[in-house]
Amino acid sequence: MDRLKVLRRVAAVAVLFVAAEGFASGSGAELQPANIDPGNISSLQRGARNFMNYCSGCHSAQYVRYNTIGKYLELSEEQLVDNLMFNAEKTFDTIQASMPADDAARWYGTAPPDLSLMARAKGSDYIYNFLKGFYLDPDSPTGVDNLVLEGTSMPHVLWELQGFQNAVFSEHTADGGTAHEFDGMEQVTTGMLDAEDYDEFVRDTVNFLAYIAEPIRSERRKLGVWVLMYLIVFLVIAAMLKKQIWKDVN
Ligand code: HEC
Repeated sequence: MDRLKVLRRVAAVAVLFVAAEGFASGSGAELQPANIDPGNISSLQRGARNFMNYCSGCHSAQYVRYNTIGKYLELSEEQLVDNLMFNAEKTFDTIQASMPADDAARWYGTAPPDLSLMARAKGSDYIYNFLKGFYLDPDSPTGVDNLVLEGTSMPHVLWELQGFQNAVFSEHTADGGTAHEFDGMEQVTTGMLDAEDYDEFVRDTVNFLAYIAEPIRSERRKLGVWVLMYLIVFLVIAAMLKKQIWKDVN
């Protein structure tokens, strides 16, 4: 195959990827960036606390163990037990939901998914916007709908913190059809946090979810450096060896 053909194929595959990306992120409202800071240990500690207090009632995170989190978040065993382990006995337990999955499925219609890998599956920005996107909808069984997951069966569990909001849509008639466009949120009741602090609360929570989705990321980076150093040293040895072996031949 000549080079041009190869290039053309690579370009075609790249176009497909870009198109798939665009499709996956949906054509609706733009996602606001979560701007999480994976190296910020205090943000991760707050996120872990938020998760245990507000999410673990329904959601498990069964691929992570408490002691792994404790070590990375620089918590003593006592802090770990006192602050995070409400429904676990042993530090090597994984995070289980307090609510049995069958009951949850019956009550909500959809079982709350495990959140261990959610940040990798849907992306941090998506979860950030999901947690900020609940708005009042009298026709929904939970009283709310969500901007990024229409018809969701998850209730607005953070309403005490955020308060309730209305979504404002405007109608546009174009080419004979009507399109709804999202114009913004309108605060209906106030919560315990103002908008900025709520964003911070959600950002910390998402930061924690991103961390548990790939807890060995930082270790892998460190290991990568060692592997590269080994390869360089080995290259030098190999070069010296080659010189030695070929010395008599030349
Ligand atoms: C009262 C139970 C309950 C609590 C508490 C709860 N959730 Fe959920 N959650 C659900 C249910 C039910 C679903 C399934 C929703 C669906 O598919 O429509 C869900 C789905 C999700 C999803 C997946 C959305 C998607 O696109 O599929 C994410 C992410 C999520 N929850 C995050 C959270 C976070 C973070 C918290 C804590 C702040 C939390 N949830 C607290 C019940 C709950």
